[in-house]
This record gives sequence, C-alpha cells and structure tokens, in this order.
Amino acid sequence: MLLLGYDLGSSSVKASIIDATSGKCVASAFHPKEEMIISAPKSDWAEQDPDMWWESIKAATSEALQTPGIDPKAIKAIGISYQMHGLVLTDKNHSVLRPSIIWCDSRAVATGEKAFAEIGEEKCLKTLLNSPGNFTASKLKWVKDNEPELYSRIDKIMLPGDYIALRMTGATSTTPSGLSEGILWDFPNHEVSSLIMEHYGFESSFIPDLVPNIGHQGELSSQAANQLGLEAGIPLTYRAGDQPNNALSLNVLNPGEIAATAGTSGVVFGVSDQIKYDPQSRVNTFAHVNHTREQNRLGVLLCINGTGSMNSWLKRNIGGNSLSYDDMNALSASVKPGAEGLKIVPFGNGAERITGNKDMGCVVEGLNFNRHNQSHFIRAAHEGIVYAFKMGMDIMLQTGIEPSVIRAGDSNMFLSPVFRDCLASITGTTIELYNTDGSQGAARAAGLGAKVFASETEAFKGLERMKTIEPDETLKQPLLDAYESWKALVDRVF
Ligand code: XUL
Repeated sequence: MLLLGYDLGSSSVKASIIDATSGKCVASAFHPKEEMIISAPKSDWAEQDPDMWWESIKAATSEALQTPGIDPKAIKAIGISYQMHGLVLTDKNHSVLRPSIIWCDSRAVATGEKAFAEIGEEKCLKTLLNSPGNFTASKLKWVKDNEPELYSRIDKIMLPGDYIALRMTGATSTTPSGLSEGILWDFPNHEVSSLIMEHYGFESSFIPDLVPNIGHQGELSSQAANQLGLEAGIPLTYRAGDQPNNALSLNVLNPGEIAATAGTSGVVFGVSDQIKYDPQSRVNTFAHVNHTREQNRLGVLLCINGTGSMNSWLKRNIGGNSLSYDDMNALSASVKPGAEGLKIVPFGNGAERITGNKDMGCVVEGLNFNRHNQSHFIRAAHEGIVYAFKMGMDIMLQTGIEPSVIRAGDSNMFLSPVFRDCLASITGTTIELYNTDGSQGAARAAGLGAKVFASETEAFKGLERMKTIEPDETLKQPLLDAYESWKALVDRVF
C-alpha cells in the first residue's frame, strides 16, 4: 500500500510516495528544476499563479510515478503541505480571479496594523492570539479596498493548499489550522472568527466548508485523476501549512517539542499546550495540526523570510551563477567566525515579523574592498541568517518556548556546516537532522488521516536521525560578540 504526499513550496513542488508497510520513501520528484518565479509587480508585492502550482503538481506526480516498481493503483491516500498565509480567490465557477498574494507579500502590513488598533490589541490577542498582521485576512481586505470590481466576483477565499485540494476534489474546503494561519480563527470558540470577518466586512459565505486537518477531506475527481495519472476516488486525508507540516514530518506534535526549517524562509516551530503569544506578534501562535477544542496543541512560530531566499540570491548573483551550494558552503567555512567585521542583515524578502513587519531590504555594513571577498560575503550572509534566528528565538523564550533540542530535515540550509554549527552554538541547542522532508511528512500524515496507521509511532517508523549537531563552546563567544554588533545594527536600521 502506498501513500502520496505533496509539498507546495515557494520555489518548487515536491511529490513523494511512501510505502506504508516499510515506512520508507520509495519515489520522489520535484518540479520545476529551476526555482519557481515569484513576481513582484511592485517592490513590496509577491505573487504566484495558482495554475503554475497545479502544472508543477502534475509534472512532479508524473515523474514520481515513473519510478520503477510504483503502481499508481496502490496509492491509498493523498496529503498536501503548502506555503502558508497566501490568498487565492475564486469565482462561482471555481476560476481563479487573480494571482495569489503569497506569504512574503507585504502590501497588507498597514491594513493589519490599523485593524489591530481599531479592534483593540487585547481583544485581538485574546481571540486571534495574534495581530491580524500581514496575513491572509488582511490581504483580502487589501483586495476589497483596492480591487472592488474583482472583490465583488469572489465566491470563495482559500489558502494555497485549499486551492490544490479544490483542483483535486472539485470541492472547496479549508481547515482549522489553515484558518488560524490566515488570522480567521477564533481560538476560545473554536470556530471562524466573526470578530475579524465583521471588522473587515467580509461575507461569511467566502469561507469554504471546514474539514479536519487530519481526516477525510474529499476524493480525487476523475478529471483530476486523469490529469495526474492516478485512480479516481483516492481520498484526500491530510492538509496543513508547510511549517506545522514540517513539525509533523519530524514527529513534533507534543508540548515541549521543537522543529525547524531553513528553506526559502527559516522557521522555528515550538509546540505548546498553553495559550501563549507575543503581544507584539513578532512571533505568532497558530493551531497545530492536532489542535482540538478539547486539547490545546498550539504552534509558536518564528519566521525569518530571508533565509534560503538570501542564500539563493547569493548563488544567482555572486561568482557569475557558477557556484554550487556546496562550493558556497566551503567558501563560507574558510572564513573565521565574525566574517572579519562584515555584517549582513538578510531581510530582503518582504516584511520581517521579528522587526514588527518592517520591510527595509537587506543591509550590508562594514564592507572593506581591501579586506573582504566573496567568501566573507557568503559567511556574513550565513551568520546573518543565524543571528536573525537567535534574535527571534530570544523573543520565543518570552512565550515559554525554551529549545534544548531542535529537529529538522537533513536538507536546505541545514546542509551548510557553518549555518548549523553556528545555530547550535549560539543558541546552545542540540540540532537533530532527520531523513525526511515536507512531502514525505504529508504522505505519512495522509496515512494517519486514512487510518492506514493505527498510531503516530507506526506512521513515523521510517524516520531516521542522520546527524546530531552539538553546540561548540569555542564557537559560542566569538559568535555572541559578532551577534551583539549585528543586533546593534538591526536596532539602528529597523
Ligand atoms: C511561515 C511562513 C513561511 C511560509 C513559507 O509563517 O510564512 O515559512 O510558510 O512557505
């Protein structure tokens, strides 16, 4: 029996197939091979075409299914992980009305700030656990104010993963965790937030039917099955934003457990059973995939937009696009901690929540033409990303998330020894790297949703720890010294 999982990221879609008996990944493919385009028609905008996502899903599925020994008829459930906080709008024929306004688009920052003040900070925090911020609900209000004709044609609003589910099943639906990431969820009442819907003046009919994050959500339509090369009727049994999904992929489901990613964005996600939040919403509290009315499972989420996005910008723009990530990691490792005084603040991918949603672009300070070369630049960028994590994790401490062990997939920037050693050393945490990724996690969770697995232990039997990175005491002090002057720069500029 096989399980199929998708991870719709910002740079590609990955599909993985898990053998339910062995728990092992037996096929996987991603598309496109070059990173997907994020368009920025204005400097603080970030948009993607939902059709491009669907085309990538088709291409990744087709490639994964070509793996020898894979029988599409053996696929018994499908799970979806997706980039969070985006907005997809459809009309009554299920046609997309405009490009998706994605997670790192900053156009709704002022809208969210105004709502936070008008509704009242205390009231927002008590029910939404966050400021409306620059999330999906505020993005929709931006459309209401700026594109009224288009707004009048909206039938349903969706998160990116809800749209993929629509393409698969032919029906619109969303999830509690999804609505929480859009700041549309009333935590005390465990329902769609009338507070935000009424404040922004949205029609209640905009919100699709609720389905559980883990459980039956619909079946693959014959049209979608034809396009994907799969059997019609396969149940869709899991859907979650990529960060709660990353946590699930690493079996981070219970209070005290902590997961991280360092893909396009970098995230630390700590699970708590306490209703805790940052009053300034510099880190956010969302519903985890296993949060219920009866049992709090909240994810406190620190997001740094400029993580892999900074690294991939360097790759494309330094050394004539000829360096591989391995080359860059070696160059970075050749420079001493502190990058000989060169400082980079990697905030060039939209409003950064830890700075109170300021969007000032990347900052480079102390560049000396006679001293620094491309290796220093890469090192300073890698350390800058680590320092941004440190700054955010200090804020997380105030919400009761005190990491001693962090679990992550053995991929993306965790492949960089400088990044992972510096992160472990400056934060004093042990980092455990596992043989998984978001698409594999989504496939395993689909198995949980379809009750193919009787327990989480069974679902995660294929998960193996590949590496453990312990803090290096000799690295700690030089990094803390460099962090102090980096933080002073952030405080000055932001
Ligand atoms: C998390 C966040 C990003 C996106 C990336 O809050 O905004 O990590 O989920 O896809």
